[in-house]
Amino acid sequence: MKKLFSKLLVALLTLPLMAIASEDVKLDKAEVDTRNFESLQRGAKLFVNYCLNCHSAAYMRYNRLQDIGLTEQQIKDNFLFSKEAKVGDLMKVSMTAPDGKNWLGAPPPDLTVIARSRGADWLYTYLRGFYRDDTRPTGWNNTVFDKVGMPHALYELQGDQVLEVKKGEHGHEEKTLKLIKAGTLTSLKDGKPDTREYDQLVGDLVNYLVFMGEPSRNTRETIGYIVLLFLILVMVPLTYALKSEYWKDVH
Ligand code: HEC
Repeated sequence: MKKLFSKLLVALLTLPLMAIASEDVKLDKAEVDTRNFESLQRGAKLFVNYCLNCHSAAYMRYNRLQDIGLTEQQIKDNFLFSKEAKVGDLMKVSMTAPDGKNWLGAPPPDLTVIARSRGADWLYTYLRGFYRDDTRPTGWNNTVFDKVGMPHALYELQGDQVLEVKKGEHGHEEKTLKLIKAGTLTSLKDGKPDTREYDQLVGDLVNYLVFMGEPSRNTRETIGYIVLLFLILVMVPLTYALKSEYWKDVH
């Protein structure tokens, strides 16, 4: 009985480790800075132009873009595509979930809080991880989302990648992506891929997705600093003065 119990305990304790080990794709690190308004504005523009056709961000209003330094007029001119649209509108999409399921095999999920559920690094790797795969209905597959229903929305910018699988030393499969055709933001000089510009823009997009998941993040952080400063500058001297007052007759 005791043996069984200890075995069970070991299994339970190592469960989280196994979950980590089964994730065999390494995620690339995204640089997130929600105070970099230029980056956020580039990301927002890319998002509205390339993602909002299929995905919605139904908990986000366009006028919240004022939080990243855009004026109402700029939002009207650059982010709203129809005359009837207003800056107070939500980022909704005309495609319905059943349409999405019929056309793409899966409904495109709402992206308002996607950065909170997937994490910035996963998104950064996902949006750079599309590769050509003729066995898929869309012609695309993805390193971190196998058999994904989404076609590569940014392929004009990134170009075409293929997946190369090599047998590693310990029989472990090593997967690498290889750029075979340059896009408008990548280049292939003498067979050497340069993807810095594309990676940068995807970084901006991920930055925006993080911002959208929690638009008040900057305010929350600022309030946190103010509270800490208050404690240090006001409360510490006050407490000290109080202590001195209490003990002054004892000495
Ligand atoms: C042609 C329509 C289409 C476009 C354009 C598109 N997507 Fe998608 N996307 C989908 C579909 C469909 C899925 C669901 C895939 C599945 O479940 O297999 C999806 C899934 C995703 C997911 C994974 C969600 C999850 O956690 O399951 C993310 C993240 C995502 N899209 C981000 C984006 C971003 C960012 C853009 C803009 C650069 C974009 N998509 C453009 C159709 C699209």
